Amino acid sequence: MLKAEFESRAGKLREKAEEESDPEQASQLYRRSGSLYRKAAEKTENDEKASALNQLAEQLDREAEKALNRSDHPGQGRSLSYFSSPPDVDFSDVGGMEELKARLRDRVITQLQDTGFREDLGVSPTNGVLLYGPPGTGKTMVSKALAGEIGFHWAEVDTADLVSKYVGESAEQVQDLFREAVRVQPCVIFLDEIDALASPRGSGVKTDSEQQRVNQFLQSLDRIQGDDVLVIAATNLIEEVDSAFRRTGRFDVEIRVGLPDVDARRKILKVHLSGREHRVSGNEIQRLAERTDGFSGSDLEAVVEHAAQEAHIDSIEDDLLQPITYEHLSSAASQLASQDGGDAG
Ligand SMILES: Nc1ncnc2c1ncn2[C@@H]1O[C@H](COP(=O)(O)OP(=O)(O)O)[C@@H](O)[C@H]1O
Ligand SMILES: [Mg+2]
Repeated sequence: MLKAEFESRAGKLREKAEEESDPEQASQLYRRSGSLYRKAAEKTENDEKASALNQLAEQLDREAEKALNRSDHPGQGRSLSYFSSPPDVDFSDVGGMEELKARLRDRVITQLQDTGFREDLGVSPTNGVLLYGPPGTGKTMVSKALAGEIGFHWAEVDTADLVSKYVGESAEQVQDLFREAVRVQPCVIFLDEIDALASPRGSGVKTDSEQQRVNQFLQSLDRIQGDDVLVIAATNLIEEVDSAFRRTGRFDVEIRVGLPDVDARRKILKVHLSGREHRVSGNEIQRLAERTDGFSGSDLEAVVEHAAQEAHIDSIEDDLLQPITYEHLSSAASQLASQDGGDAG
């Protein structure tokens, strides 16, 4: 999002906060407004302007505190059970995956923005995205980064957990999730392992209760159409995702998230090495990226983590900080490849 958009969204939230009578709600609105002003400050090149925006953000944090204290009945305010504040990660924390990020920018982020053209063009914001691909490829991470990027609240929900609540009287709890979403919007609901919703496994025949769960779930999704609530569903098993679910049109953006190519692997390694003491050159990172074909983002994270632990052991032995070296990384990669039956080596 552009700086001006963060600022204008922040301004609107602040106005809403000032009109809000529920202290808990008002406090949240102030906080969200503050966090968007902070984002605007980050995007501002003019130092003076950035510092003014940051001051404004601090003032709004104080307003958020004050609003809570204004509450006559502390404890009666509605607290959040599913959502947390906008994540403090954004696309810059996601290594590589440029095409994926570009598609999310064009198909989702841009279409959610009030650009002044949207209505004339009849563009309705995207409410549903389906991400699929092997585990550890960053589906959760990129979704969270998207929420952080645009300053949306974030809820991460395990689908199996959610559907188990449809059984018996607790369907109410699922409604709560969607109700809370409407209340805290703008927000992202991340539904992990959506294949657990209703699996056509085995006979391919769904039981009545499975069918009922799917229907109830789809009704909940209907409730958020037109709101600033983005549902991102993820799965490692796209072929197990109920076709009726895919046909609803509720998930109009489907994106395959694949294993990282060499360039993405290099960037992912860089992301995970940053902030750690290391003596690994750009050429060495490139070399490691080249020999880790088939590694996922989470495998590469594990390589760096393991290398850091080895450097830690060396440091203790020498009683002197030993930075991470190419050798540490290389042996960690070999170990991981042999464990997983991978093909790096
Ligand atoms: N593109 C990436 N850049 C940086 N780290 C990544 C990337 N992809 C995956 N990771 C690392 O792997 C971990 C697991 O990824 P995750 O998003 O949970 O994968 P998935 O949801 O696809 O199973 C993340 O917490 C992150 O540390
Ligand atoms: Mg995940």
